[in-house]
Amino acid sequence: MANQLLAGKCGIIFGALDEKSIAWKTALRCHEEGAKIVLTNAPVALRMGEINKLSALCGQAPVIGADVTNMDDLKNLFEQAIQHFGGPVDFVLHSIGMSLNVRKGKHYTEMNYEWNQKTLDISAMSFHRVLRTAWDLDAIREGGSVVALSYIAAQRVFPDYNEMADAKALLESVTRSFGYHYGVRRKVRINTVSQSPTRTTAGSGVKGFDGFINYAEAMSPLGNATGEDCANYCVTLFSDLTRYVTMQNLFHDGGFSFTGVTQSVIEKMGD
Ligand SMILES: NC(=O)c1ccc[n+]([C@@H]2O[C@H](COP(=O)([O-])OP(=O)(O)OC[C@H]3O[C@@H](n4cnc5c(N)ncnc54)[C@H](O)[C@@H]3O)[C@@H](O)[C@H]2O)c1
Repeated sequence: MANQLLAGKCGIIFGALDEKSIAWKTALRCHEEGAKIVLTNAPVALRMGEINKLSALCGQAPVIGADVTNMDDLKNLFEQAIQHFGGPVDFVLHSIGMSLNVRKGKHYTEMNYEWNQKTLDISAMSFHRVLRTAWDLDAIREGGSVVALSYIAAQRVFPDYNEMADAKALLESVTRSFGYHYGVRRKVRINTVSQSPTRTTAGSGVKGFDGFINYAEAMSPLGNATGEDCANYCVTLFSDLTRYVTMQNLFHDGGFSFTGVTQSVIEKMGD
């Protein structure tokens, strides 16, 4: 299904851990659509070695380690990418999330605030760090596009999503605020894609994920959006077909976000 929508473009993809990752699927689709890419993840994730398989599938895309909470790592990443591509990038995917309180089983009402700081830094302020680094190095070409992944817990309560709900709300706010400044300065577009629950390493960390994903499926007229479809949506946002879309949180969820109830859920509730 390649249409060369990204021919001549180059970009950086954060967050491909394994083949289930949304970033992994997006990297493959960007490559199919003619883009050149640089892959990056935290050094600890690179040690798994999986990403080298993805690199091979994407025309030997360079893999550059960067902890997204470390400004020196980010500077090095963008500098190396600019050198590799021979100029600024056209697109960036931020596909990163991690919750220390969820991982360590802390209930939202008993949050450990040091872990919470780390969660917000990795999952939300890292987006500011990425954009700030690109801004300082003028590393994104005029009209470029940046996408981060979000979840509807930023707007509505999903109790077991815990502190990640607050992280996603912050991520979406950074998207609007930086989107304004980068739009004015370079016509760079910045959006979040709010994706259906998807079976990945990060996704499966949410308590009761099976119930969560089945409920979303039953509440979505089109069913849950897959990771592959999320990758397709990201490709459109990196392409020139969406040049005036910016500062938005774009639901990619089969209609879940605007559905009050479905017939299938009513039937499950009984009389
Ligand atoms: N899976 C879902 O149900 C779902 C739904 C909506 C949104 N999202 C979002 O999609 C994005 C991607 O997650 P995924 O579901 O593909 O899971 P994933 O586990 O495959 O990806 C998360 C990535 O974050 C990276 N990461 C963590 N800490 C980092 C750090 N300090 N520096 C650099 N990278 C770091 C991990 O190495 C991993 O590659 C996340 O923002 C997630 O919140 C996921």
